Amino acid sequence: MCGIVGYVGAQQAAPLLVEGLTRLEHRGYDSAGIAVVGSRLQVTKKAGRVRDLAAALPKRLAGKVGIGHTRWATHGPATDANAHPHTDTAGQVAVVHNGIVDNAAALRARLAADGVELVSDTDTEVFAHLVARSGADTLEGKVVEALAQVEGTYGLAVVHAGFPDRIVVARHGSPLIVGVGDREMFVASDLAALVRHTTTVAHLDDGELATVTATGFTTFRHDLSRTATQASEVDIDPSVYGQGEHGDVSGAPRMYTEILEQPASVERTLRGRLDERFGTTHLGGLNLDPRELRAFRRVKILGCGSAYYVGEMGASLIEELARVPADAEPASEFRYRNPIIEPDTLYVAVSQSGETVDTLLAVEEIKRKGGRVVGLVNVVGSAIARATDGGIYLHAGPEIAVASTKALTTMFVGFALLAIQLGRVRDLSVADGKRLVTGLQRLPGQIGEILKTEDDVAAIAQDLAQAESLFFVGRVRGYPVAREGAQKLKEITYRHAEAYPTSELKHGPLALISPQVPTVAIVPDDELTDRNVAALHEIAARGGPLVVVTHPEVDLGTLDVRRIEVPRNETELDPILLTVPLQLLAYHASLALGLDVDKPRNLAKSVTVE
Ligand code: F6R
Repeated sequence: MCGIVGYVGAQQAAPLLVEGLTRLEHRGYDSAGIAVVGSRLQVTKKAGRVRDLAAALPKRLAGKVGIGHTRWATHGPATDANAHPHTDTAGQVAVVHNGIVDNAAALRARLAADGVELVSDTDTEVFAHLVARSGADTLEGKVVEALAQVEGTYGLAVVHAGFPDRIVVARHGSPLIVGVGDREMFVASDLAALVRHTTTVAHLDDGELATVTATGFTTFRHDLSRTATQASEVDIDPSVYGQGEHGDVSGAPRMYTEILEQPASVERTLRGRLDERFGTTHLGGLNLDPRELRAFRRVKILGCGSAYYVGEMGASLIEELARVPADAEPASEFRYRNPIIEPDTLYVAVSQSGETVDTLLAVEEIKRKGGRVVGLVNVVGSAIARATDGGIYLHAGPEIAVASTKALTTMFVGFALLAIQLGRVRDLSVADGKRLVTGLQRLPGQIGEILKTEDDVAAIAQDLAQAESLFFVGRVRGYPVAREGAQKLKEITYRHAEAYPTSELKHGPLALISPQVPTVAIVPDDELTDRNVAALHEIAARGGPLVVVTHPEVDLGTLDVRRIEVPRNETELDPILLTVPLQLLAYHASLALGLDVDKPRNLAKSVTVE
């Protein structure tokens, strides 16, 4: 959510900043801007996309130091004035900021009372004025003095015309990294912005600041004492970040390429982790020995949005395979109800980005109360990965599209790996362990088969896209699948899609069923098939159009439905296969409506504000 870039070196900064912002545009896309320090400080900012900013840049924009930002609005609408960077009145200081200043109203009032004219509605602008008004004689001193007056969260980068050789950055609750090049340095909120230039990277910790010049960087605390943070090589293939704004080389939307990548990403999640002989899994990163694993009496899963829905699938897997009570809860709600943290509960935080602030704060609350929390995280070295006591990296590869797909399938696989291991130190037999290990091995191929049905799903999506309102229904294992299907459709088509347990329809929502309100029903071949089919009849009897995601083995008799089939795996693993066509359904519905699939309105990748 919001992206920051910075450059100091021998090259002209502006083109590099624009390129970095293009790569970060999934983080926020309502406005963008850059500040370049040459003979003076020059700021250009624009509501709209990075391409609008690029078009608005002056022809002559010389300067080898600069910062840039792509915004997802928190305070104030998307206008040129509210775009970052923000400057002080004299135009000496420029600031870009991710996060929220909680005491912005008080600071704005104080500055206004002192005669400062505030020109934006944002919380960020106060930083620029506070830095400019500081009496400290170094930029570091000025930034520290400004930050002392601010309550809230920030990832921050500051340039100053009076200190033209440097960028000062600070982190508190919002990620910031420094990339080390050859006599040039980069700053970013996200690896995606700089991997094309360097893979030698330092992650700032909360409470840390850094001075970045062309020759290197130094890190320090708010009392200006030095810290020892070093840069290290990140193990990443830069080409997996694709070509930026318009998807991969083929020009397809990122969501599409990420859907297609799923067989490969699931294989990566599984690699080296399956033990066929003993029907169990190897998860060294969990840092839990079998005795500790046996001692847990409960599992509590925390995540947000789609990660929470996959968490619900994970809870079912854990209950079924390990017979340990498990449930999932939205991480955003968890800490506000003063949760009881039990020593024999295993807490699992699940997050693609590893930066979702609600999930991170839930992890911190659990740790403050002495709980044991592990992570299922995609981004290596991210805040949640670092805050947890261990975990399972998903290895999905970078996920850029706002609508999450491949990260979710790998989260499910991560939960399956965990559930098998928890089961095998309890009552899950070797035979069942082997059955599930083999089932996991079949997943990549089966996902590939589902992807081949794309044309059929696309035809159904064309029709569904015309409906203003839809239901997604499923039972037990199928209910989180329905929730995720509705979520994906909502996000990228702006259609109203509501998920319900199929069994609950007749307790109320059936009143809404009509020929104008289609239902997408999840009907696997399992112990509930008959009950599910009975519910389909109830919907059909009220004229509700039906799309049924099901297995070839399921006989729907005389029902008039549009059928999407997925291959069967083991019953416990089926939910993830039933989810894949729903991604294609949402994707093609969005295309049919002519919408920007990768940049849905009002949303941004990685929610780093509360
Ligand atoms: C849905 C989606 C969001 C995220 C949620 C959590 O397609 O992308 O609902 O799943 O914001 O994000 P992470 O997994 O990064 O914590």
